[in-house]
Amino acid sequence: MSLAVMHEDGLRVEGVALAEIAARFGTPCYVYSRAALTAAYAAYRDALQAHGLAQRSLICYAVKANSNLAILNLFARLGAGFDIVSGGELARVLAAGGDANKIVFSGVGKSRAEMRAALEAGIHCFNVESASELEHLSEVAGSVGRRAPVSLRVNPDVDPKTHPYISTGLKSAKFGVAFDEAFDLYRRAATLPHIAVKGIDCHIGSQLLDPAPAAEAADKVLALVDRLAAAGIVLEHIDLGGGMGIQYRADAPAPAAADYLAPMLSRLAGRREKLMFEPGRSLVGNAGLLLTRVEVLKPGEEKHFAVVDAAMNDLMRPALYDAWHDIARVGADGTATGTAMSYEIVGPVCESGDFLGHDRLLALNEGDLLAILSAGAYGMAMASNYNSRPRAAEVMVDGSAVHLIRRREDVAQLFALESTLP
Ligand code: LLP
Repeated sequence: MSLAVMHEDGLRVEGVALAEIAARFGTPCYVYSRAALTAAYAAYRDALQAHGLAQRSLICYAVKANSNLAILNLFARLGAGFDIVSGGELARVLAAGGDANKIVFSGVGKSRAEMRAALEAGIHCFNVESASELEHLSEVAGSVGRRAPVSLRVNPDVDPKTHPYISTGLKSAKFGVAFDEAFDLYRRAATLPHIAVKGIDCHIGSQLLDPAPAAEAADKVLALVDRLAAAGIVLEHIDLGGGMGIQYRADAPAPAAADYLAPMLSRLAGRREKLMFEPGRSLVGNAGLLLTRVEVLKPGEEKHFAVVDAAMNDLMRPALYDAWHDIARVGADGTATGTAMSYEIVGPVCESGDFLGHDRLLALNEGDLLAILSAGAYGMAMASNYNSRPRAAEVMVDGSAVHLIRRREDVAQLFALESTLP
């Protein structure tokens, strides 16, 4: 189901017209749907349920995809755990009411201060990504008189067949412990008094549409788990990471969660370990859009430009990955007075890479509202203040109600931390 549905008053999210949101909160504005977020989480739960795994599994939402407190709080209320990659994300999860005991901490460069904060909070597990990190963590845990719960993030050397910038499971990537070194590192971990070996973790990349690479990675992980058990190192949990892709274009569907997860889940059904996933994009991506207004129409000799009030600083994915987001006119059908033509949808930022969509066939007038779809993941979370642009507002629709979940930044906030020379 599409997030924004056409009605006589234009596109709506749940029961609220996007035009009304623009009038109340201004543009650019991120708009999320509580129902869509809840449904995305339920799709995971149902898939686990169907394989008899719901009772012994934990869905750890990857906070990096969208770290707004309201979204974290919603997932916490649904029972989710969280996958974090920084002390900042740890603080956000705790501030949003997340359960420390359901947090896993990933990332290749955890600082000692971050390790200490996470130990003191009592997180569920550290996903350790190198031999050095294991030693650092052991030292830090010793210094605070605790045992650090640990999984090794192994790099299975599987090609996830996605954009190179979001592939993580190949040998050439900076992520994880090389598969061939993992067994020995587990043996080392088992000897460290301040390390408690708990599990294994693997994440091969993002926006994966084919379940085969993830299933292949799971096979490698399971073989290692069995080899470790035979050597007396018995793991409690298996974390298969995130990565499930979503639909970005009307003409390029993504697999349903049940279908994408089935090959992995069928491999785990008969086992005793607890199971974890770290989905980010698939829980929030299709549940959000970026609402923007056309400022200027600029017909050109070669290309026609529609300059909108959102830009690469608000949604970086097109500039960074050449990513496609469908773009829809918000006004009701038949209300456009311009003729349909192919537009470059661009922002006001002073960079040629500042585009939100190429070659979009739309009938536009200045002042029209546009919805940039599937922008709930890695949209606001990656936004910046480039060109001294205050970051957008964020709202959450819940039935016929709209809640402001992040107010628009104001310009004074952008330089509040700066000072001039004496
Ligand atoms: N776990 C780990 C260790 C990760 O590194 C990531 C994402 C996830 C889980 C969540 O993956 P997901 O389910 O969202 O695919 N900014 C890029 C995506 C970067 C993904 C980074 N790691 C984008 O906009 O496409």
